[in-house]
Amino acid sequence: MKILVVGSGGREHALSWKLAQSERIQTVFVAPGNGGTALDARLVNVEITDPAALADFVVAENVALTLVGPEAPLAAGIVNLFRARGLKIFGPTREAAQLESSKDFAKAFMQRHGIPTAKYQSFSDAAQAHAYVDANGAPIVIKADGLAAGKGVVVAMTLDEAHAAVDHMLSDNAFGDAGARIVIEEFLAGEEASFIVMCDGKNVLPLATSQDHKRLKDHDEGPNTGGMGAYSPAPIVTPSMHARVMREIINPTIQGMAKDGIVFTGFLYAGLMIDSEGNPRTLEFNCRMGDPETQPIMARLKSDFVTVLEHACNGTLDTVELEWDRRTAVGVVMAAAGYPDSPRKGDVIDGIPAETPECVTFHAGTQLVSGSLQTNGGRVLCVVGLGDSVKMAQKQAYETVEKVHFNGAQYRRDIGWRGVK
Ligand code: AMP
Ligand code: GLY
Repeated sequence: MKILVVGSGGREHALSWKLAQSERIQTVFVAPGNGGTALDARLVNVEITDPAALADFVVAENVALTLVGPEAPLAAGIVNLFRARGLKIFGPTREAAQLESSKDFAKAFMQRHGIPTAKYQSFSDAAQAHAYVDANGAPIVIKADGLAAGKGVVVAMTLDEAHAAVDHMLSDNAFGDAGARIVIEEFLAGEEASFIVMCDGKNVLPLATSQDHKRLKDHDEGPNTGGMGAYSPAPIVTPSMHARVMREIINPTIQGMAKDGIVFTGFLYAGLMIDSEGNPRTLEFNCRMGDPETQPIMARLKSDFVTVLEHACNGTLDTVELEWDRRTAVGVVMAAAGYPDSPRKGDVIDGIPAETPECVTFHAGTQLVSGSLQTNGGRVLCVVGLGDSVKMAQKQAYETVEKVHFNGAQYRRDIGWRGVK
């Protein structure tokens, strides 16, 4: 069987790496892929990004199933297009992807269906937004409504920062159409967790839990990034917390979408904030797997992922029971010099050791230039270590990180610290 994975990040490398382990697989195509998927003999990069051209490719190559990694093609309607042509694809339709592509849509949806989240209001008028900030005080959170590649959220600790963020988004047009409307919401304190499930339109299958590290520097300092590392499982999601999140957030979301006339298929990722009393609230929805959460999650998945995806496309996820490696996986992102503001490209990467049962390195912003592996984006690699404890998994990951070299590499030394504590 042939499968197509759409995307070029560390998430897509981890998904295609896992799919390629299946005995049922003939070829995994990755479009467009990266230097790591190019180097992997079991994966084939395809230089196509246009959804209609991808559908033509799938027909020509007789690809059985397509899996979409990133949000942009989902929000643009790649699932609608494939289904209209009778092609099997796993992901949300354009309508369902609004849970991620519009924060205003997601907040109104949560309010309408009683799903716990921060109190908010939406604005497209700067004067009204400034007045709301003054009335509510700091800390307060300002979010661009549309997709902004992880850069559209400002957690303002002071009124000055909040007003500056409003001006940046609404008056300076910093995010174009994506920031023409903003959501201003209550600041929530607590510990975050990533809760990701697969939905086939009827059934919900939770994946292993995980926790991301959004800040650039150790001790959660420095600017927000797309994620500097993640580990799985996340101890804060105890069995009773898991049941509560399913009951209060995940199931009402799938049911709420259905009530609103939208069948949800694909990955649903609830970014949670769990307060000191143990109450979970939804910070955001994503309609895809997380990056870097996917890397440790796929490293722990023991079940045949091809079979799982087939069930997801056929509406039979209720027959699936996932099997997980009992070990903890810790994924450490190695980012380029200048990330996140202005990542440098073209640095030569060397020293990546071969995969072992305890450690695997997934590529993100890498490319092969005449046989030489070079940096090609902000987040370059994600090194995943596995061990019987968070500490042991960290040891495996960091031993490899220290062997890998490229000029200006940035990485955190404390990925998984909450799990150690
Ligand atoms: P989002 O893209 O909405 O997940 O926001 C990015 C990050 O900003 C989250 O992972 C949190 O660390 C932080 N954040 C978002 N919303 C809030 C909030 N209401 N209170 C506190 N922190 C938040
Ligand atoms: N790691 C956060 C995200 O994928 O949105």
